[in-house]
Amino acid sequence: MTERLTKVAEFAQQMMTGDHSGHGFDHIERVVNLTRQLLAENPANGELALTAAYLHDCFDDKLTADPATRRNEVITYLTEVGYQTAEVDQVLDIIDHMSFAANLEQHQKLSPEGQLVQDADRLDAIGAIGIARAFSYGAVHGYAMYDPKVQPRERLTKENYRQPETTINHFYEKLFKLPEQMNTATARRIGNGRKRYMQEFVMEFKQEWEL
Ligand code: ADP
Ligand code: NI
Repeated sequence: MTERLTKVAEFAQQMMTGDHSGHGFDHIERVVNLTRQLLAENPANGELALTAAYLHDCFDDKLTADPATRRNEVITYLTEVGYQTAEVDQVLDIIDHMSFAANLEQHQKLSPEGQLVQDADRLDAIGAIGIARAFSYGAVHGYAMYDPKVQPRERLTKENYRQPETTINHFYEKLFKLPEQMNTATARRIGNGRKRYMQEFVMEFKQEWEL
């Protein structure tokens, strides 16, 4: 770790603790570790990728009431600890374009670094951790776990993405689709394994529900 990356990690930890909707610092650390794993098999600037991984949820509009202020705080901090303007811009470009919401209506082209961080973030949304995060998010936002009368929506759009739904429907609308959207073969391989585990969980869940 370079000195400035260590500082970024401390900054992210301060910003991201206390969230119980599946986006706390534990999520950030997993995304950082997954990014490291992807960096081992895919060429990219490691320091920039890890910087974006640490900061990727810092000014998300569903996690903070004032994203513009947060975004400026991130820019000021990065500059203070020694990132050049061009590097700050590369990090912001990743964060602004990597989210599922940003890619709903049109595919955003990401740098090699951004592609790895996006894959890492998507991997943490699936598998055993993905199941736990989805139900935590649902609980914080007041969603029902499941309702057999409500069908999953065919297509998610910017308009309907943030509307309440059941957490089980979220698996069909988003989570099961993530492996095929991965940028790297590495993430697709890990993602497909995690998806199978989630499919088994949903099958068992429905069987127990209908007992
Ligand atoms: P992005 O930031 O890439 O647009 P989100 O932050 O909305 O994606 O999603 C991150 C994680 O939060 C999801 O993978 C899931 O675990 C949880 N989540 C988001 N929306 C929902 C939802 N409607 N129901 C259940 N979980 C959700
Ligand atoms: Ni994230």
